Parts: sequence; C-alpha cells; structure tokens
Amino acid sequence: MTASVSGAAKDRVLIFDTTLRDGEQCPGATMTLEEKLDVAELLDTMGVDIIEAGFPIASNGDFEAVSLIASRVKRATVAGLARAISADIARAGEAVRGAARPRIHTFVSTSPIHLAHQMRKSEEEVLEIITATVTQARNLVEDIEWSAMDATRTPIDYLCRCVEAAIKAGATTINLPDTVGYATPDEYRAMFRAVRERVPNADKAIFSAHCHNDLGLAVANSLAALEGGARQIECTLNGIGERAGNAALEEIVMAIRTRGDILPYETGVETTMLMRASKLASAATSFPVQYNKAIVGRNAFAHESGIHQDGMLKNAQTYEIMTPESVGVSKTSLVMGKHSGRAAFRNKLEELGYSLSDNQFQDAFERFKELADRKKHVYDEDIEALVDQNIATAHD
Ligand code: KIV
Ligand code: ZN
Repeated sequence: MTASVSGAAKDRVLIFDTTLRDGEQCPGATMTLEEKLDVAELLDTMGVDIIEAGFPIASNGDFEAVSLIASRVKRATVAGLARAISADIARAGEAVRGAARPRIHTFVSTSPIHLAHQMRKSEEEVLEIITATVTQARNLVEDIEWSAMDATRTPIDYLCRCVEAAIKAGATTINLPDTVGYATPDEYRAMFRAVRERVPNADKAIFSAHCHNDLGLAVANSLAALEGGARQIECTLNGIGERAGNAALEEIVMAIRTRGDILPYETGVETTMLMRASKLASAATSFPVQYNKAIVGRNAFAHESGIHQDGMLKNAQTYEIMTPESVGVSKTSLVMGKHSGRAAFRNKLEELGYSLSDNQFQDAFERFKELADRKKHVYDEDIEALVDQNIATAHD
C-alpha cells in the first residue's frame, strides 16, 4: 500500500498532526477543551490528513476532548493514542468511535533499554503483546497505527520482527519514532530502507516518521525518512512537544513545497493558513514563537541589513526563497534600523508619502542614522517626526 495519488507526478505525503497529543504533553502547554476544538477545526480546514486528538486513557478531560473532536471533524482522520494495554485500547476505541474516519494509534517500546528498565519484559513477551493489542484494536476500528517506541535505538533484526508482527495483526500504518531525538538523517533514512526491504509484508502498510528535536534534527530526519520510503510525517504546530519538541509542521510542509526540485512530494496542506495556525497554537498553549523561528517567526520575512534591503527592493528573490503571502504573511517587512541603507530609507519615505529634495533627503538620512544608533526600534512615527522637524527647520 502506498500513499501516492495516482496520476500525480509527485508522491503524496500524509501530514499527521500531533499538536493536541505530543504537543500538549510538554510542560505548560495544556489547552482547554474549547482551545483544542479550535485547533482541531483549523487543522481540518487547513488540509491536515490525520489529527491526533489526545490520549483518551490519560484523563476524563482527554477522553472528552478526543470524543468531541471526533464528532466535529468531518474530513481528517481522528486518532486517539493508546499504550499496548487492553484498557487503553478500549478507551481509545470508544473515544474515536464517532469520527468519520477513526484511527487507534497504539505503541510499545522496542529498544533494549526500554525493555529492560521500563517494560521489564523480554523480546518474546513484547512480540506477543504486539500481536494481542493490535488484534484487539483492529477489532474496534479498521485504521490502526502501530508505533515502535524508541525505534532508532532498537536492533534492526528485532525491529523487523516487531513490524512484521504488527502488520500481520492488522496495523495499516507503521510508525518508527526517533523518540529521544538521537538519530541523524543518514541513519534514519537507512532504518526505513532496511525495514521496508526486510519485512516481507511491509508493502501492506504506510510507513511513518515521528521525530523529536533534541539535537535540532527533527525536520531533517523527517525529510530523510521520505527518501527511505516513509509517506506519513508526524509533526506539531510551531514544533512544540516533549523536551525540545517535535518536527515543526510548517517547516516540513514548506520544505516540501519550496524544494520540490529535490523533494518530489506533495502534501494536502493549504500553506497560506500556516501563520494563522501558528498564532492559534501559540495563543492556545501560551507558548511564544521565537522571533527567528523558520516560516512563522516574526523575523522570518523581515530584513534590516542595508545590503539585503537594497536587494529586496530590486527583486524579492535576492533574499527570499518563498513569498510571505505563501505562508499567510501579508508582506515582507523592511525593518528600519542602524543597518538600513539609503535605498530602504528612500523607499520608507515614499511609503510614508514624503517627497524630499536631495539636500532634505541627505539631512533626514543623517538624522535617521543618529537616531538608529540610539534606539533599538525606529518606528514610522519616529521617521515622520524627524522628517517633519527637518522640513520645519529648513523653513525657519
Ligand atoms: O515519541 C514517541 O515515541 C511517541 C510515541 C507515542 C509515538 O510520541
Ligand atoms: Zn513523540
């Protein structure tokens, strides 16, 4: 089974958003029911394929949120998370029951360190658990995702046996997470290739990447997984999530859109809604977005250096690889500061409606530079004040 859209030149990559589950799991990001519903509805409108709405066994609040989202979301698949425990799976099944497209996402640890210290089970016991829990889930809904927690620290032979057992028991999506953000892109790509080559029934499932950002490699690893054959990427708005977070949805989607020359994939996400979604997630979780955050940070389309501003005024492609409009930002901003040059200052004056003689311009520019050396932010009002003062002095 593949996620490619027939007839299209590019393979379709499914976007699985886990802002409401892995994202909400990070300290301080708790959302109210209303906020979760708003985020889910926006994700649905934006074209996300799968929304992981929560972890139903975790609390009554989570159960309620997943059930409500399942009943409201009409287009996307709605997933509920469950450990490899019978009660978890039953609860997740109950929570997603009302969805147009329900999914149970069940996981179990597979790495030696997790088996020894967290699970306290042998490899054979975990294999039996996989078969039993995936079978139970499959009896509740048809769409089953199974995850090998800490897959990237699991010996490949054992990982292949686990994946084979999960698919045999009915899993339709196989997720191989880099739970601790330890892998490099080459390793992560190779793991997907090896598992897909070695597991005899691998073609019956869609493979999924789920990357944490402990080494700042979550997005790079997710893109590498596509080259290894993954066709689903799990991510969150603004990259929020456990510890250093998850792969950022907006970065994945825009990397695929912007670098179609070497990433021959497409997603169903309407990119012009990315900024709105980022702002909603930030407001709902009270997590600010860092100024220099790729795609949605407030400086992502702002230029201050004189050379860059001059280039931007001549042709935006000199310093921008995507348009601000393509991610829902109204326009590029040329920030006026001590690094700005004459071209940007002239442009700003025109924008503000001034037409100055050469002498007036020179005088205003010198005053602007003096002011910019003293002030961190030079606002339009500051420029208006110094030009008006300049003109008034000239009349005296
Ligand atoms: O990081 C992880 O391994 C997870 C699983 C539950 C998929 O979030
Ligand atoms: Zn995770």
